[in-house]
Amino acid sequence: RVVAVIMVGGPTKGTRFRPLSLNIPKPLFPLAGQPMVHHPISACKRIPNLAQIYLIGFYEEREFALYVSSISNELKVPVRYLREDKPHGSAGGLYNFRDLILEDNPSHIFLLNCDVCCSFPLPEMLEAHRRYGGMGTILVIKVSAESANQFGELVADPVTNELLHYTEKPETFVSDRINCGVYIFRPDIFTAIGGVSTQRKDRANLRRMSSFDALQSATRSLPSDFVRLDQDILSPLAGKKQLYTYETMDFWEQIKTPGMALKCSALYLAQYRCTSSHLLASGDGTNSASIIGDVYIHPSAKAHSTAKIGPNVSISANARVGPGVRLISCIILDDVEIKENAVVIHAIVGWKSSIGRWSRVQAGGDHNAKLGITILGEAVNVEDEVVVVNSIVLPNKTLNMSVQEEIIL
Ligand code: GDD
Repeated sequence: RVVAVIMVGGPTKGTRFRPLSLNIPKPLFPLAGQPMVHHPISACKRIPNLAQIYLIGFYEEREFALYVSSISNELKVPVRYLREDKPHGSAGGLYNFRDLILEDNPSHIFLLNCDVCCSFPLPEMLEAHRRYGGMGTILVIKVSAESANQFGELVADPVTNELLHYTEKPETFVSDRINCGVYIFRPDIFTAIGGVSTQRKDRANLRRMSSFDALQSATRSLPSDFVRLDQDILSPLAGKKQLYTYETMDFWEQIKTPGMALKCSALYLAQYRCTSSHLLASGDGTNSASIIGDVYIHPSAKAHSTAKIGPNVSISANARVGPGVRLISCIILDDVEIKENAVVIHAIVGWKSSIGRWSRVQAGGDHNAKLGITILGEAVNVEDEVVVVNSIVLPNKTLNMSVQEEIIL
């Protein structure tokens, strides 16, 4: 039997995701019309003998309750949210719930970061992991040398795929192969995490008894139950024939900012072509808007037949898109109203917002630029004929004048 664990973090983590994370936990923000965490969860469905999926985080339990019960029914696999009382780090969080996780007596445990977007080749990883015979296997991808330092950089043996060296977000270049935040472990990973935790406790005790300065400063900051998977487990275990790598040639991105959410929404919409084409709007119906490329429209949303939508657009529940509206590369959230002849390009439009007639809400579209995307928070009201370019507007604002390159607080 196999268990999957998805690390969802908590409210102090998603700050770069503001203002969207003011309304909803980042893991529940919709990408291609489905909550972010839905994509790794539905990928877990392909794992043979999957017994349970756990989400571990430090958000309030009630924020996940509804989603967890509906997805359990849909997938026919039990999904449970486990709440930490405080952040324990990516490995400490897992360790905290070891008794529960081991209840199913799993032979393997998948561990997935919630904020990555990829094809999650989990059965393929499991097969490779069994062949390698190590304690853990890490999903790896090659990225550009310039971007590698935002991630864990690693070196693997080209023949055996053994992890030889691992450095988390190094200052000087190590490798263009990086850690994708998707792992499979044998249950003895808990012994390794427990070891780090005990070592910390011993050092803390020693420190209390010792006046040795170096020892004091080296161990001062981290509590013994806070264990990071990357620095505390992967780095020391590299080169010890315990960890191996599996390289993906498919797509992979990390989702820390709203700009990346828009990019990842496009990647998942493109993936629907192969995996769930029924979710893509076809534009076939007599009253349907014209659809260009990959578009998701929630069944309760309404788009006028003279609207032109796509590519990379997803429209959530109860949104209304008026006559002559043009939407390109955007996420329109629940209950939004877009009035006649308005244009939205490279933007995220927050819940219950409204965009007036002949208005434009747009951005340049560079996902890495700070303001390469325009974001309207919840319940923003853009009046008729107003142009909003490369701007971020916080919730509950009314814009009656055009703005450019501004953050409206
Ligand atoms: N439950 C829980 N508790 N989750 C946590 C905690 C915690 O205390 N701390 C982090 N997480 C979750 C985050 O929500 C995220 O899904 C994952 O664990 C990793 O988060 P970070 O530890 O903040 O690392 P990162 O995202 O900057 O980088 C990690 O992932 C990259 C891939 O996306 C590293 O492992 C990198 O090496 C890797 O490249």
